[in-house]
Amino acid sequence: MSIEIRLLQALWFIMPAYVANSVPVNVSKIKELERFGRPIDGGRKWLGVRILGDGKTWRGLFSGVFMGTIIGLIQVLIQRDVAEFFRVPLPQMSIELAFMLSTGALVGDMAASFVKRRVGLGEGDPAPLLDQLDFVFGAFFFAWLLTRTIDYDRFFVIIVITPVIHLFTNFIAWFWKLKREPW
Ligand code: CTP
Ligand code: MG
Repeated sequence: MSIEIRLLQALWFIMPAYVANSVPVNVSKIKELERFGRPIDGGRKWLGVRILGDGKTWRGLFSGVFMGTIIGLIQVLIQRDVAEFFRVPLPQMSIELAFMLSTGALVGDMAASFVKRRVGLGEGDPAPLLDQLDFVFGAFFFAWLLTRTIDYDRFFVIIVITPVIHLFTNFIAWFWKLKREPW
């Protein structure tokens, strides 16, 4: 199969996780939702350090899972038309799969924060590749819980393209002065 088709299929599969992962940071800027921004770890510490930190909130978790699942629902509805338009078979999306991909994405992100706190990295400190890929691992693991299969080729494609997409979108955001640094 050609590279474009593989890319399209991989993106179609991982889309709910991409959405789930990118929603929380935007929702955190909505003033009206501030009171739902309590940290998931409740401010608790373990061995003197926060379990997850203030960057992992209930608001982020619920909004991410919700929006990721909604995107999956939209994908279910337009699946046939998109496949016909591009003349490629697309991996079947479902509400259950979208829910698991989204939940897994955010659990993966929380797991990474847990690891970062344990090794002494502060909230928001960069952990290159871990920060960009944590949600992909979580999403694939949760999808596996549902389907008990992993398409390793697809996994590999997503692991490679995700950091590239990340750098590219951050550069665009910096270019349009939406971000302070270009990375
Ligand atoms: N966010 C949230 N709830 C989540 C995940 C993210 O509210 N479950 C919001 C927070 O405002 C967070 C921002 O999205 O600061 C960016 O998320 P991320 O980069 O993953 O967190 P960091 O602040 O960098 O913290 P950490 O070092 O723990 O990754
Ligand atoms: Mg993170």
